[in-house]
Amino acid sequence: MTINLKTAEDIEGMRVACRLASEVLDYITPFVKPGVTTEALDKLCHDYMVDVQQCIPAPLNYAPGGYKPYPKSICTSINQQVCHGIPSSDKVLKKGDIVNLDITTIKDGWHGDTSRMFVVGEGSIAAKRLCHITYEAMWHGIVQVKPGARLGDIGHAIQKFAEGHGFSVVREFCGHGIGRGFHEDPQVLHYGRPGTGEELVPGMVFTIEPMINAGKRDIKELGDGWTIVTKDRSLSAQWEHTVVVTPTGYEVLTLSAGSPPVPAFVTATAC
Ligand code: MF3
Ligand code: CO
Ligand code: CO
Repeated sequence: MTINLKTAEDIEGMRVACRLASEVLDYITPFVKPGVTTEALDKLCHDYMVDVQQCIPAPLNYAPGGYKPYPKSICTSINQQVCHGIPSSDKVLKKGDIVNLDITTIKDGWHGDTSRMFVVGEGSIAAKRLCHITYEAMWHGIVQVKPGARLGDIGHAIQKFAEGHGFSVVREFCGHGIGRGFHEDPQVLHYGRPGTGEELVPGMVFTIEPMINAGKRDIKELGDGWTIVTKDRSLSAQWEHTVVVTPTGYEVLTLSAGSPPVPAFVTATAC
């Protein structure tokens, strides 16, 4: 395992890529309405990244070992889909759906990776609660980030919070180091034991992106080779930020004007 530590100059590059990724989510938000297809959302995001932001959509043709090239520019994971949902002209969003839009940009060689949940039209109390608890779970992980803390502290905080609310944590997918590569070391598990795992040092950059299921944690892959769904078909939610370890704590790089407010428990303990 090799963790690439980023210099101040590298982090400046990451800040730009990450802000752009978050701004794609700001841009697409008003289009996430009943009746829109996930393919239309993909095309809008693709054109915004390429024509307006002049960056590269990292998912397009992304082919890590063992996977066939990903055919679209964003991931759109609806309801029981956990992650890596492929946009399609036959996926029409309807009132009450929940959908994760996951955006990864490449700008000047640097990757920025972030995702948000959207409730389409009016959602059920249960669906909104899952999205909200998953958002807070991500932030419980983020506030652990500081030099001397360990990766297990992040995973433990997320797991404790999510399971404490009766939900389960997907184990097969995790956060990841990020930089010139889309997926770098280390792996950032969303479960674990405090005081275990790699020690955090300033200049590490990684994502925190918990996938939380309303039912059991078990998942399966669909025949398209990418889409992951819950085995019990229960709803699944995910949020993702890219963060850098600073000398005093953390900086969230994937923030923009349209980012949802930071939970109150975070501002109360801010570094
Ligand atoms: N953005 C996803 C992540 O958070 C990875 C998507 S890979 C793709 O790591 F090929 F499906 F786009
Ligand atoms: Co990621
Ligand atoms: Co992502």
